[in-house]
Amino acid sequence: MPYRTIIEPFRIHSVQAIEFPSLEQREAALERAGYNLFGLHGNEVIIDLLTDSGTGAMSSRQWAGMMVGDESYAGSRSYFRFRDVIEDLTGFGEIIPAHQGRAAEKILFATVVNEGDVVPNNTHFDTTRANVEYQQAEARDIVIAEGHDPASEFPFKGNMDVAALERTIEEVGRDRVPLVMVTVTNNSGGGQPVSMANLRAVRAVCDRYDIPFFLDACRFAENAWFIKQREDGYSDKTPKEIAQEMFSLADGCTMSAKKDGLSNIGGFLGMNDPEVAQQCRNLLILTEGFPTYGGLAGYDLEAIAQGLEEVLQEEYLHYRIRSTAYLADKVNSAGIPIMRPPGGHAVYIDAKSFLSHIPPGQYPAQALAVELYREGGVRGVEIGSVMFGRPLPDGTEEPAAMELVRLAVPRRTYTQSHIDFVGEVVIAVAQRAETLRGYRITAQAPWLRHFTARFAPV
Ligand code: F0G
Repeated sequence: MPYRTIIEPFRIHSVQAIEFPSLEQREAALERAGYNLFGLHGNEVIIDLLTDSGTGAMSSRQWAGMMVGDESYAGSRSYFRFRDVIEDLTGFGEIIPAHQGRAAEKILFATVVNEGDVVPNNTHFDTTRANVEYQQAEARDIVIAEGHDPASEFPFKGNMDVAALERTIEEVGRDRVPLVMVTVTNNSGGGQPVSMANLRAVRAVCDRYDIPFFLDACRFAENAWFIKQREDGYSDKTPKEIAQEMFSLADGCTMSAKKDGLSNIGGFLGMNDPEVAQQCRNLLILTEGFPTYGGLAGYDLEAIAQGLEEVLQEEYLHYRIRSTAYLADKVNSAGIPIMRPPGGHAVYIDAKSFLSHIPPGQYPAQALAVELYREGGVRGVEIGSVMFGRPLPDGTEEPAAMELVRLAVPRRTYTQSHIDFVGEVVIAVAQRAETLRGYRITAQAPWLRHFTARFAPV
């Protein structure tokens, strides 16, 4: 169509009211939560950009699918629909449902990762890293150098550094690298895509050393869209064809269906190796449930099967990636530096350069996230030294490489005016940036501390 405006490719069928807590109520909520935005109640938040995980709107077809869910404990019809859709998409012969992505990670790593192993990834997501470390193994991030430079416009900043992958394997020995993972898109690195050429290069290294290659596939459809837009030779392929090619390069995947499954819960583990799959199923029965439901209801399996088909529609992906870029334009126009170019599911504010007066040890990205909530009830999430800082034996901390605030866009949930509002809140905070102060941690857990840590203003 000859029009400039990209419209939401749906009309709204059911709505949920937003509550509007006052500034006093927001201040009180912050104090109660120890300045940790994970401690806020949903009704204390006006626009919730904490995550794009499980927070999207399902379609009427997904809801309709839920009504025909088969709740048979074993051999549910809904499982076979789920399996068939995923097999068609991924080509993997073994499809194991799980209640969400980290459950698939836990089962895979408990099966194939041993103490002292090293798992390379472009950038581990926090739960992925924690699940590797829980096996007493090392989670090693080897994204390309451009991936650490927020200003670089490189089109595939999620790519793995293939030379570093080879060095890692040579250094630790092939037997201590149980698998190589690539996260598409690279969430912790700014939602940046990985090119097909890079996936192919990683595949070639894995072939040379006979190491299994797995995708962390949470946002595979958004990655496929970026490949279509940015990589030579893909503009005429459909997102589904591109996604199928991505999966064909891997031996398996972990997946959180809460992202590109367009569902509120769910995930799966896919692979080609039947023996490893059998060991995973044995563990699945212990913790998740029988292998034809894996911690999900039959109706969840239906919603995911439908979601995986809808997510590959071109109108959807066009709108999806453009609406994230629209939020990026708003934030940029406030003069706030962001991770460039904008990623698929979120805008990442570069708090290190924006709040350069707050040292990393005082968590500048946490300070900014708290302020966006205080100002306008907008909830984002810190992806910086609170999440990835490493406590050192002397009581100090090694800071994370970047100090980001992620504003994640739930799928099919907010309209353009919601995002315009977020833009106004960001501008208001930007105008008094130099008054922002850092935080210190007053209580923390031994791992995944960002979920529950408590803070106090410095
Ligand atoms: N891998 C990636 C790349 C993720 O982004 C997530 C979740 C997971 C694995 C784990 O999946 O939540 O279903 O257990 N990311 C969410 C986020 C939580 O906010 O980015 P899960």
